[in-house]
Amino acid sequence: MATPKGNSGYAVFGDKSAEFYKDPIAFVTKRIDEHGARIFQSRILNKPTVFVCTVKGVRDLLVEQHHHFEMGYKAFMYQLYGDNIMFSDAVDAARLHGVIHSLFGNGGLPDVNQLIDRLIERHLSHLDSDATDQSCPSTSIYNVFKRFATELSLAIFLGLDAEKYPELVEECIELTTTHWHGIISVPLSVKLPSWSSSWSSGYSKAIEAKDQLLKIINSRISNADNDNILRHIKEAGFDDTKELAQHLLCFVSALVPKALSSLLTSFTLMTAGPEKEAMRIRASDNSQYLHKVLLEVQRLVPPFIGGRRLTRKDSLIDGYKVPEGTAVIYITYAAHRDPSVFKKPDKFRPERWIDGEQKSEDVLSCFGGGPRSCVGVGLMKNSMMRVCSYLLDHYEWRLPGGQDLTYKWLPVSRPKDPPYVVFCSKGEEETEID
Ligand code: HEM
Repeated sequence: MATPKGNSGYAVFGDKSAEFYKDPIAFVTKRIDEHGARIFQSRILNKPTVFVCTVKGVRDLLVEQHHHFEMGYKAFMYQLYGDNIMFSDAVDAARLHGVIHSLFGNGGLPDVNQLIDRLIERHLSHLDSDATDQSCPSTSIYNVFKRFATELSLAIFLGLDAEKYPELVEECIELTTTHWHGIISVPLSVKLPSWSSSWSSGYSKAIEAKDQLLKIINSRISNADNDNILRHIKEAGFDDTKELAQHLLCFVSALVPKALSSLLTSFTLMTAGPEKEAMRIRASDNSQYLHKVLLEVQRLVPPFIGGRRLTRKDSLIDGYKVPEGTAVIYITYAAHRDPSVFKKPDKFRPERWIDGEQKSEDVLSCFGGGPRSCVGVGLMKNSMMRVCSYLLDHYEWRLPGGQDLTYKWLPVSRPKDPPYVVFCSKGEEETEID
């Protein structure tokens, strides 16, 4: 039984939060190289923290030994979200998983596919003429996908169609954004007390935004009978209206559209250009192949770099001792590049999922894993398949040169500068304006 390499430093002075939040990939890569091990310790948010960067380690944490750990989010997020599944104990979380999975699993919600298709038509059917800058017919793709995903989220969880309720939709977008800014300022407040006055004003605005959002949510719940999807959610089996409202607050978080937009953007970037044409044709003709392409996108560019737990009792993760009270951060990005599981881990190669090389999808943790895995996974995978099939069936696309496509990883992975893509309707000649 080994102790994780590295050290968890002295209180406050040994804290490495600033380094980690500035560039989490550089932080993790440097330590994996230094220690020659993919499990190591450091001090984050002023707590001894073990980093887990292997597939086996993440499986131990999330699946095999999940009962040794509790979710580590309550201290940062409870005030902004209130009671919901994320802060529930194992028994209550299992009940809520049952309720929510019955909604988002296969065929759970009526009319969702029609809704997704309607939004695809609204946002993605004119990409070839959607010149953001008239001198170049290219599309700022992350922003287009984010708008699509935001409208999808507000339509499903609040029954708000942006064409029918344009002002209310804009108000909700502003509120969910302000609410979300309260969350991302939390780690800074721990490390950088000099920021505390601007932090506390952002935080109190976030609390106000939460209260206003809850008012809108409660009024939408009262009107749920007029909306097929929302009525279904209302009748799913939440204990009472308060519990339902708290969960809708969690589901309409601005984080969710960012995550879907992140995956759709990465898909578009990774399959762009003439050199990927054969891959696009194959994915357009064969949905199983498209599924494998999307697995490879999730593997290399998971929207969330990882997740957090707190150790309830002494545990063993991939052979390393983790004492009670330790914080644990699993790094999905690094586990998805674990060389003991993935051959040529940095290469985008959908074939690894076909040729029997990678037999199970359980080696991925893009949507978490085990009993606390993502409740929205079915809805998100279905949305991705529909959007990507549509793009493949209707467009060719390529990246204009001269762009810096370097990614940032927090809070959600995406290129630092919004990427531009040139779309051309299938069968039509591309017209260059620049
Ligand atoms: C592409 C979009 C999404 C991604 C990449 C994603 C990813 C994840 C991940 C990685 C976890 C596990 C966190 C952990 O282990 O600590 C998680 C949990 C969760 N997700 Fe998602 N998610 C997405 C969309 C959604 C949607 C649409 C919903 C709501 C309908 C949702 C609701 C949740 C909830 C409530 C949990 C916590 C479950 C629990 O505490 O047991 N997610 N998600």
